[in-house]
Amino acid sequence: MILDVMRARRSVRRFRSDPVPAALVEGLIEAAVTAPSASNKQPWRFLVVTRRSAIDAMAAAVRDALARIEQAIPPESRDALRAYGDYFTRFEGAPCVIVPLHRGAAVLSNLVDAGGGLPAEERAAIAAMERDSGLVGASLALQNLLLAAHDAGLGASAMTGPLVAAPRLAEILDVPPSWGIVALVPIGFPAETPAPPGRKPSSKVTRWIA
Ligand SMILES: Cc1cc2nc3c(=O)[nH]c(=O)nc-3n(C[C@H](O)[C@H](O)[C@H](O)COP(=O)(O)O)c2cc1C
Repeated sequence: MILDVMRARRSVRRFRSDPVPAALVEGLIEAAVTAPSASNKQPWRFLVVTRRSAIDAMAAAVRDALARIEQAIPPESRDALRAYGDYFTRFEGAPCVIVPLHRGAAVLSNLVDAGGGLPAEERAAIAAMERDSGLVGASLALQNLLLAAHDAGLGASAMTGPLVAAPRLAEILDVPPSWGIVALVPIGFPAETPAPPGRKPSSKVTRWIA
């Protein structure tokens, strides 16, 4: 049952060192690309990083960014940043890091900009809708990938904390300029079984407008 898979999936941050067979990785991406997307644009690409030097370079870039952030915030918040930032490099022990990319569109926003008849606020809403739709579609693909990883006996986690170093990560991974990084997703055979962190009851996060 899909609901059982959803409930049992956990964010795994500790991995065995064994490589993930390429066929398993390909299966995860096949699951990812079944996701829906606006106008079926499929605004996603997937980088599969297994080269140790690239994973290490990404972790070093994130640590550099965290060190700069630490210098830029009030001294009394630095311990809290260190504890939080520790979670930004938890991908580095994985044998494989999948990096989903997203791309927005600007079809309608280019048309309304050329026409010039709409107020700026409405043009901004259209631009945001087209830009964000790419990230939404790629995020749905990411959730499929996480569920498929769990179902295949692999551990994985979405990680957006590392994006504090997004420009440097894009350089290391040679990401084309029109694409953005959704998250880093470490994948591997799990070396931990995290306890479920719990959720707010659905009734507490729902408001009916009937
Ligand atoms: C968008 C997003 C970003 C996340 N970023 C990080 C991260 O940078 N580092 C990390 O260790 N976990 C990260 N996580 C994992 C969350 O901490 C985790 O999903 C949450 O605590 C709930 O635990 P569960 O996934 O096991 O249910 C992220 C999850 C999501 C969805």
